[in-house]
Amino acid sequence: MKRKNIDEIKKLESLPKIIKLFSEQEIKNITELYNSLPVTVHNKEQNIIKKRWLQNYNKSLDKMYISKLKEVLGEFKMDNLKSDKGEDFLGLFHESFSPLKLHVDSGFEDKEIIFKQVVTPLSPIGATVIFKNKWYKKSTSFTIDEEELKFKPAPGQNERSREHLGKGGFDREIHQKYLTHIDINNLNGLTVELVYQWQVGETLIMDRSHIHCSSSKIVNKKLGLTTFTKK
Ligand SMILES: [Fe+2]
Repeated sequence: MKRKNIDEIKKLESLPKIIKLFSEQEIKNITELYNSLPVTVHNKEQNIIKKRWLQNYNKSLDKMYISKLKEVLGEFKMDNLKSDKGEDFLGLFHESFSPLKLHVDSGFEDKEIIFKQVVTPLSPIGATVIFKNKWYKKSTSFTIDEEELKFKPAPGQNERSREHLGKGGFDREIHQKYLTHIDINNLNGLTVELVYQWQVGETLIMDRSHIHCSSSKIVNKKLGLTTFTKK
């Protein structure tokens, strides 16, 4: 895929930032919504439970969430898939028991102008490692495993690639500290932009083109909400 609009996407880019967007009560309400939503995916292999933020479970919460996002992002469109009725999901919750590997959530449509992803931790222990390196093709999981590279994604599934690799080995100390779930050779040419230690009450905003992963240190489980946006 060769993405059109790549210049427009780049013009909208900015450094990752961490802000306080939701009150304690709002975080509590979002977590309660999570508990009441049906499970979409329970992937036992990856040890992850996913739920979609369906509209109309709590209409005032839906409104609050959208208006707070508008406050920080300005105009945007949701890009988290839609329900059977054609209603946007407002985000994807995921509860993981093992750390996510190296990937990018750059979307599946080459005409879209991808914008920011908004990550709100709902449980305290965990971290997201964001690399300076960016990717403008489809959503991809990065691997050097020959078998995994043969994977043919269905629509809506991540591609597999090793085209992210560059020259220069990865920092051993950082690998040891945060990234032991990833083969160090799969990090060649990457540099860390930010290690974001999750803090309930904060929200991380970053460009969708950033290559990222979880840190290897998860205690029990990690629950977060991510909303993907486009212009
Ligand atoms: Fe992600």
